Amino acid sequence: MATMKEEIGRRRTFAIISHPDAGKTTLTEKFLLYGGAIQTAGTVKGKASDRHAVSDWMELEKQRGISVTSSVLQFEYDGYCINILDTPGHQDFSEDTYRTLMAADTAVMVIDGAKGIEPQTRKLFKVCAMRGIPIFTFINKMDRDSRDPFDLLDELEKEFGIGTYPVNWPIGSGISFKGVYDREKRSVLAFDEFHAGRKKLHGIECDLSDRTKLDELIGRQAADELCEQAELLDGAGFDLDMDKVHTGKLSPVFFGSALNNFGVEPFLAYFLEMTTPPLPHESDAGTVDPFDERFSAFVFKIQANMNKMHRDRIAFLRICSGKYERQKEYLHVQAGKIAKLSQPQQMMAQEREVIEEAYAGDIIGVFDPGVFSIGDTVCEPGMKVKYGDIPTFTPERFAYVEQIDAMKRKQFMKGILQIAQEGAIRVFVLPDGGFERVVVGVVGQLQYDVLQFRMETEYGVKYRKQELPHTAIRWVRSSPKPISELRLADGTLHVKDLKEHDLLVFQSEWAVRWASEKNEGLQLGEYPEMNGSQ
Ligand code: G4P
Repeated sequence: MATMKEEIGRRRTFAIISHPDAGKTTLTEKFLLYGGAIQTAGTVKGKASDRHAVSDWMELEKQRGISVTSSVLQFEYDGYCINILDTPGHQDFSEDTYRTLMAADTAVMVIDGAKGIEPQTRKLFKVCAMRGIPIFTFINKMDRDSRDPFDLLDELEKEFGIGTYPVNWPIGSGISFKGVYDREKRSVLAFDEFHAGRKKLHGIECDLSDRTKLDELIGRQAADELCEQAELLDGAGFDLDMDKVHTGKLSPVFFGSALNNFGVEPFLAYFLEMTTPPLPHESDAGTVDPFDERFSAFVFKIQANMNKMHRDRIAFLRICSGKYERQKEYLHVQAGKIAKLSQPQQMMAQEREVIEEAYAGDIIGVFDPGVFSIGDTVCEPGMKVKYGDIPTFTPERFAYVEQIDAMKRKQFMKGILQIAQEGAIRVFVLPDGGFERVVVGVVGQLQYDVLQFRMETEYGVKYRKQELPHTAIRWVRSSPKPISELRLADGTLHVKDLKEHDLLVFQSEWAVRWASEKNEGLQLGEYPEMNGSQ
């Protein structure tokens, strides 16, 4: 039997980030295929009807056929135990998406080779950069006409301010895509046919120096070009500095085609080799080593009402150190209570299973009778550590939410406040007080949908919602005069958070700058900085 140290040492926990449609789901499917977790590709993002059977997540999810929470998939590959944290896209985007990144040790950024960096990639990258976690880039869809690879790298470097190191290099793109060149092995992996869905790759390997074979394989012109580009890359002289990779300053870049299963297995192999086992975490008692035998974990996400019949919630914990055992009692630090965690479960591919044990790096979901908050610590009773707060993220969309039925005023307030406290939405009140109409702030549509669903099913309240054209929010740190007398662009909204702090909500970044310029002495602050205010 493997020791605890071996178990932790073989864990790799990462999130895949991308803009919708870049190929995140397809790449995940291929990973699972290699791990033998699924038999055929195409089952990760099933239709609503397929998903029904395997999950009992909240009703909303079934209705829309989406994954409301970012799910966690665990599978084995080549001796490694891999945890993939999914970060949903499209309208599923929410604060949860950001919080999921708090539980990952590494991020894989999938980019569409024809499109380059897209808005969602940008947002998610920022959160990864804030944490300084390693970022690996997979440039996908090389079987389609793509942008020049040098251009793509240039864009990554300029926009994200990181270095890039191409580990492999594409040979052409679109119909002339011939395969990839592995820089370390100095060999070409060319494909003779497409491999969609197949488990093993039928690539042909060829050394770059074997010009006769290379010409035969990819054609003379492509071979000439490749040799030239390989020289250029080597001449650029950048080293694969692993220290920089591990601090997120240098991103190893891979090219491939997830759909055709091309370049995926080499990517996975390099990725596992280059990434580290679970990283240490900072706590109020210093850095906690993941190999410390004592169990500790923090709550990074709470999912409410996954089962409509029981008003339950599931708290997702990222294990930071040691080994979790089902029969043991642990300390919930914030509540000061010692108890067993109830119904611990893990996602194995699509199945949720009750688990007996888990290790640092793993994610477990436990039944939460309403005692946990995001950021809470659970640990071995003697350990007494507290992990840092999980940051709140700046809302980018705002709406007036107004009660319809005056008789239900109490339920309306209770629901809005509770859901805000769980961190599912931000709530602001208008300065004239009153709770009939509040401003709700979110990062994505899904949060509005969850709010509506929960208000109706849990609190029995319907409300009116009016989306606002506002996009930016700032604290008022200090103001030279009453806020109502400030010179502000038309439409700027003054609100307060639940602790009576003043905030301004603007319709554009321009309006933010204008406010600072026109009002001497007005000091505005970025929203998430004054943490813990709600
Ligand atoms: P996402 O999770 O990032 O949103 O992307 P997803 O994997 O769902 O892929 C989006 C679309 O791009 C899918 O096509 C998928 O088949 C396609 N795709 C993914 N990887 C590649 C690739 O390497 N090459 C090419 N040519 N296409 C790729 P779709 O038509 O939207 O969906 P489907 O009908 O194929 O499921």
